[in-house]
Amino acid sequence: MIKVITYGTFDLLHEGHYRLLQRAKQLGDYLIVGVTSEEYDQARGKLNVMDSLMTRIENVKKTGFADEIIVEESQGQKFQDIQKYGIDIFTVGSDWIGQFDYLKDYCKVVYLDRTKNISSTMLRTKRTSIQRIGIIGTGRIANRFIPEAMLVSGVNTQSVYNPHIENAQLFANKWEIDAYEDLEEFYNSLDIVYIASPHETHYKYIKQALEHKKHVLCEKPMCLSKVQSEEVFKLAMEKDLVLFEGIKTAYCPGFIKLLGIACGGIIGNIKDVEACFTKLEDDNNRELKDKKYGGSFTELGSYCLLPILKIYGHDYEDIRFETICDANGIDIYTKVYLRYPNGLATAKCGLGVKSEGKLLISGTRGYITTEAPWWKTSYFEIHRERPDDVERFSERFLGDGLRYEISDLLSMINGDKKKDFKLTRGDSVAMAGIMEAFLKSQGRI
Ligand code: CTP
Repeated sequence: MIKVITYGTFDLLHEGHYRLLQRAKQLGDYLIVGVTSEEYDQARGKLNVMDSLMTRIENVKKTGFADEIIVEESQGQKFQDIQKYGIDIFTVGSDWIGQFDYLKDYCKVVYLDRTKNISSTMLRTKRTSIQRIGIIGTGRIANRFIPEAMLVSGVNTQSVYNPHIENAQLFANKWEIDAYEDLEEFYNSLDIVYIASPHETHYKYIKQALEHKKHVLCEKPMCLSKVQSEEVFKLAMEKDLVLFEGIKTAYCPGFIKLLGIACGGIIGNIKDVEACFTKLEDDNNRELKDKKYGGSFTELGSYCLLPILKIYGHDYEDIRFETICDANGIDIYTKVYLRYPNGLATAKCGLGVKSEGKLLISGTRGYITTEAPWWKTSYFEIHRERPDDVERFSERFLGDGLRYEISDLLSMINGDKKKDFKLTRGDSVAMAGIMEAFLKSQGRI
């Protein structure tokens, strides 16, 4: 009996898949089909797969060509499967030519001609239509955003606005997109606005974008006052638009896993959360020059507040800020103390003081710890009373991590509103309230 194996995602099963499976079956007597798990697809950067694993397996089954279906969960699995199932022929479509030649030592490798003019990507795009993104702002984060957005199928970054047209033009040339100095024309060119301008301009641009009926992804801190934050969310709801605060940590798989474990009671009742993020900045950078809205806390505070608000909620009893400021009165280091009915929390941020970046969650039965850059969570540990009682967890974190938030934004726009749990409107409003309290405590507003 000749055993054949093939692999794929088989999302929105189409004629190309059908023909591939049909010919794979004809190569032998018994066909095994490996269908990728959701985790594996995400790990290799294939975001926005629409069908669930169960649906994809069901669809492969319905073709009638598969004698056995297995789940492909990791990179090295093909090699193991070939040995485990005694495979004679490995086959995939011709889009993979050469890439699996390393398996030739173990079985025959056959690349079947790919069916022209059809792919899951094409079907996904047709179903949801490409969302055009325009960026306001041309700074560091905007430059990081574009390559990440390129990895999310279903979006296309095509325009940029900066009131200084020379900057917009430079940025546009670099990324081969269009530069605008006229806001009306800019808004006409897009479906989603990504706001990456200085903090204090966010509120104005969010309102403007929503008034122009555009979805909004806004960099953190989205708003610097609670009332403004509530107002823009209300406006977004009235207009049935998605407004999304871009705190990338909230959407990264490792952080979500960490929160799930922490809140699941594994370390008992949580009594303390300490989060620290420092990043030394040049004195001449905007972050350390803007006397009103610059400084460590407005720049980095959102990251440190995130685990605190996700774990304890929004109803703290007391909040206190301690700062070390430079000669201009800008905080180069800030400590925030929060007291909740059942626990304590500290957030430490520094642009001019370096400290150990760490997230430490302490409970009645143990603690969870993760090192810098914990805001791109890829590893954490659970410790208990005995020093050798340590559980270690790893999770993928790809690239700069913005791809996860862009992918979630797109899911929300396409109607999957459930994703809101990662960073809720309530979380964003609470953060804006804390930013406001901080600015007031410093006499800046
Ligand atoms: N395939 C094919 N002809 C097509 C599309 C896919 O022969 N038009 C083959 C692939 O080469 C692979 C298998 O079907 O061997 C599963 O491919 P998969 O990646 O799931 O499908 P795509 O349509 O290529 O998906 P995507 O657009 O998400 O990359």
